[in-house]
Amino acid sequence: MKVTVVGAGNVGATCANVLAHRDFLQEVVLLDIKEGTAEGKSLDSWQQAPIDYYSTKVTGITNDYSKTADSDVVVITSGLPRKPGMSRDDLISTNANIVKSVTESIAQYSPHAVIIVVSNPLDVMTYCAYLAAKKDSKKVFGMAGILDTARYRAFLADEIGCSPKDIQAILMGGHGDTMVPLPRYTTVSGIPVTELITPDKLTAIIQRTKVGGGEIVNLLGTSAWYAPGAAAAQMVEAILKDEKRIFPCCAWLTGEYGFKDIYLGVPVVLGKNGIEKIIELQLNQEEKTLLNESALHVKEVMDVLDQMKRVNA
Ligand code: LMR
Repeated sequence: MKVTVVGAGNVGATCANVLAHRDFLQEVVLLDIKEGTAEGKSLDSWQQAPIDYYSTKVTGITNDYSKTADSDVVVITSGLPRKPGMSRDDLISTNANIVKSVTESIAQYSPHAVIIVVSNPLDVMTYCAYLAAKKDSKKVFGMAGILDTARYRAFLADEIGCSPKDIQAILMGGHGDTMVPLPRYTTVSGIPVTELITPDKLTAIIQRTKVGGGEIVNLLGTSAWYAPGAAAAQMVEAILKDEKRIFPCCAWLTGEYGFKDIYLGVPVVLGKNGIEKIIELQLNQEEKTLLNESALHVKEVMDVLDQMKRVNA
């Protein structure tokens, strides 16, 4: 099994390194446009192998897509990260061109690969990759729900004083401030979260989750990488081991939840064919309203991408 991670920045390198630690892949290729970056990080990862006991070697490549040929899964992390004061949407013009050209190269050498998009603005870059890849939408989707849910779970674990392992949660919508954490679908080892935390505290955690990426950007001056890289790696593992895991992912909707022709975060089953099923929850009116608002925002940014394409055509 072969996986390619495009972009050897913080997120891409973390994703490749987490995959190496999982130790189930024959080949991980890490590709970057900048001479030496992917090679250097791959070498560093290999030198960690005797310490952490894994045999998966990451191969670093500068911009030669022929070396990615016949990948089973490709993770696209290319593009600029945001800086303090920017929203993810501010990255659209720079990152759209990068994601388009990366996807075209990937599609040329690995026509059957499942493509996972991590670049921002996430929902719209996933749409961009889908248009460029010209393949079944079940094989082109975005990582974000696992990351956002992980932030929500981590904040809840802190507040409740329990292990984050014991918190199960789902979150929907776009990967931005309009995302929709769902307390009705949040439990702590089966106990409804509302029995363990006050409504005020829960509201504050939901708000913090929505701006969780920005909190890190403000602290670091650039965006997060440990959790995003690990989240993408978890998706790769679920696909290649055909685990049928249920995760929130950015998926192309064709009528689910009343939405059509939009990429939006929804719960899906991930297996060897990519998205094997989109799960439709019975949302209440308040949840539906929040999801509609989120979808409207994503659609606006998708329209910006469509206009850019018309201008460049
Ligand atoms: C994140 O949520 O960490 C990423 O989308 C990066 C960002 O700019 O917030």
